[in-house]
Amino acid sequence: MIALDGPSGTGKTTAARGLASRLGAGYLDTGAMYRVIALAALRSGTDVGSPDAVTELARRVQLSIGTDPATPRVLLDGADVTADIRAPEVDRVVSPVAAVAAVRELLVAGQRQIIAAVLNGVGGIVVDGRDIGTVVVPDAPLKVFLTASADTRAARRDAQNTAAGLASDPAAARESVEGRDRIDTTRAASPLKAADDAVLLDTSDLDREQVLTALAEMARERG
Ligand code: C5P
Repeated sequence: MIALDGPSGTGKTTAARGLASRLGAGYLDTGAMYRVIALAALRSGTDVGSPDAVTELARRVQLSIGTDPATPRVLLDGADVTADIRAPEVDRVVSPVAAVAAVRELLVAGQRQIIAAVLNGVGGIVVDGRDIGTVVVPDAPLKVFLTASADTRAARRDAQNTAAGLASDPAAARESVEGRDRIDTTRAASPLKAADDAVLLDTSDLDREQVLTALAEMARERG
């Protein structure tokens, strides 16, 4: 069981999926779960500034998330929303949604169930998020906290957007990344922070393969 936390644009999701594939382990993208609720809020016209409305919505929708690192599909009420949850509109509202304590309670309970099921099945899992090492699985044998400079993170987000067919907009990408981090690190409920016993890995000057190699090495030693 490996907990991988850190802010957006650190290469966390790519690294977590790659590591899970390499280890033959399962993979859980907890950010995708918050994104599904954010997408459902947008589609239903739910006011994301109202914790009660967002909580009620989170209780009502059916969310399903795959744990195969090759095809981590995400469903909202039975429909495939794997691509839709990456839209910039979702980026804009996901952090306020994730700051609602009752939504977190609900999703964290779901995450613990999924993790337990995968550990009973394939035996290992890499979990990607913001509060995995601090809240979801505080006794994880290996916790890694990824960091990267603001410039690097903004550039990576912009590249992701262009890969998804959107126009390049470095200033907007930077604003989006920094805005989410501000909300994620300052919220009252489970703010983004490294666990005291997490290994810090700065990915600013590392490419995908180097991040993966560093993580695989840590997993071999402690995972
Ligand atoms: O990882 P990703 O960028 O997809 O996460 C989207 C958002 O979901 C984050 O900005 C954060 O607000 C929230 N999140 C969270 N706790 C997690 C995972 C994600 O609050 N464990």
